Amino acid sequence: MERLAIHGGPPVRTKPWVSKYMGSEELGAEEKSRVLKVLEKKRIFRYLPDGLETSEARALEEEYKAFLGTKFALAVNSGTSALICALIAAGVGPGHEVIIPAYTWVATAAAVAIVGAVPVLAEVDSSLTLDPRDFAAKITSRTKAVIVVHMRGIAADMDPILEIAQKHGLMVIEDVAQANGGTYKGRLLGSLGHVGCFSLQQSKVIASGEGGMLVTNSEELWQRAVLYHDGAGYQFRFTERKIPAFPGQNYRLTELQAALCLGQLEKMPAILRTTRENKRKLVERLGAQGKIELSPVFGTERDLGVSLIFYVSSEEKARQTAQALTAEGIPAFQVYDRQARDQHIYINWEFLLAKRDPWGGNFPWSLAPEREIEYSEETCPFTLDLLSRAVQIHLNHLVRDEDLRDIEAAVGKVAFHLL
Ligand SMILES: Cc1ncc(COP(=O)(O)O)c(C=O)c1O
Repeated sequence: MERLAIHGGPPVRTKPWVSKYMGSEELGAEEKSRVLKVLEKKRIFRYLPDGLETSEARALEEEYKAFLGTKFALAVNSGTSALICALIAAGVGPGHEVIIPAYTWVATAAAVAIVGAVPVLAEVDSSLTLDPRDFAAKITSRTKAVIVVHMRGIAADMDPILEIAQKHGLMVIEDVAQANGGTYKGRLLGSLGHVGCFSLQQSKVIASGEGGMLVTNSEELWQRAVLYHDGAGYQFRFTERKIPAFPGQNYRLTELQAALCLGQLEKMPAILRTTRENKRKLVERLGAQGKIELSPVFGTERDLGVSLIFYVSSEEKARQTAQALTAEGIPAFQVYDRQARDQHIYINWEFLLAKRDPWGGNFPWSLAPEREIEYSEETCPFTLDLLSRAVQIHLNHLVRDEDLRDIEAAVGKVAFHLL
C-alpha cells in the first residue's frame, strides 16, 4: 500500500471533487424560459386581485400536491418559515414543549423557540435520525408536538414514531428540508405526519435559492398556515376563510422563485435515481472492506444517497480520517468537530444553551421555571459521541462510477494506515 498523501505519498485523486449542489447544477434553458415568462407577464406578486390562475407559486403548490398526494400545499419563502407556519398551524405556542432531534439544522430549534415553545432534545440513533425510544422517553404532559427530521437524506423511522405520537396525542411535523423526494416504506416523506415542511435553499435536492413548501391533508391546518404566512390573508380573497383571524407574517414566496423551481420538480426523480444507486453501490463496496461502520439503514430505501457518512472507533480517528481523505483528494470532514461550531449539532446552538430570547431574557423557558431543562454535553451524549466518530463526504447526482471507485480506494488506503 502506498504512503498516505498526508504523509507525502501520491494522492488517490488529483481531479477536483464534484460540486455539492444538486438541482441548482441542472438549471438551464427550461428555468430560464420560465423565469423570463414571469417578466413578460409582469406578474411578480402571487396574490394579484385578478385571480390565482396564472400564479407560478400556485402552480408550484399544485405540483407539490400532485407529487406528494396531499390535499393542501403552501409555498413560503424558506424552510424556516415553513416550520414556523407548521408549528403555528399545529397550535404550538407558549406553555408547550416540542421534541426535536439533537442533530438537525439550528432552524428546527429556533422555529420552536420563535413560536414561544420550549425545544426538548432527543437523541438520534446510528441512522442519524430521531431515536424512537428516546423520543418516547422525553414526552411530558407539556409535549404538544414532535418535529421529525429526515436528516442527510435519511428517512426517520416513521412507524414507531407515528405510533408513539398517536398514543400521546402529539402533532407530528416532518422536516423534509434535507430529504425532498425521499420515501419510507413506499410513502413520500412529508405526507406521513400532520404537516410536512420543505426547504428550497440552494444546497437542497431542488432549489430556488431561497424558498420552502408546507404540505398537509388538513384544511384547518392549511388555513392557519396560510394566514400566518401572510397576515394580509390575501388567499382568502379567493377561498372562504373558515378559521378565526389572528396576526400573521409575510413569508410569501415570490413568483420568480416559484417559476425557477417548477422545472426542477420534473428533474428530481432522475437526480435521485442516480444518488440512490450510487449510495447503494458505495455501501455495498465499503461494507465489504469491513474497516468502517455503517448504519443498516444506509443504502436502503430510507436513504436518498445525498451524503456518505460512516463511523470509526474514536473522535481522534475520525479527525485523522477526515484529514487523510481530504489529502487523498476526497473532501471529507468530521461531523462533530469541536472547533467547527457546525450549526447542525445542538451543542453549538448558543441561544439554546443560554436559553436566551431576542430581548435579553429567557422566554419561553421563563414561563415554567419549575421545569428544569438544561442543554449541555449531558443532554444527548449518545448523539455527540456518534457524530464525533462520524466522517462525512458530500455526494450528488454528478458522482460517476469512477468517483465512487476513488472514494473506495481512498477509504481503503486510509483505513489500512489509520484504522
Ligand atoms: C433540517 C433542516 N431544517 C430546516 C432548514 C431551514 O431551511 P431554510 O434554510 O430554507 O430556512 C434546513 C436548511 O438549511 C435544514 O437543513
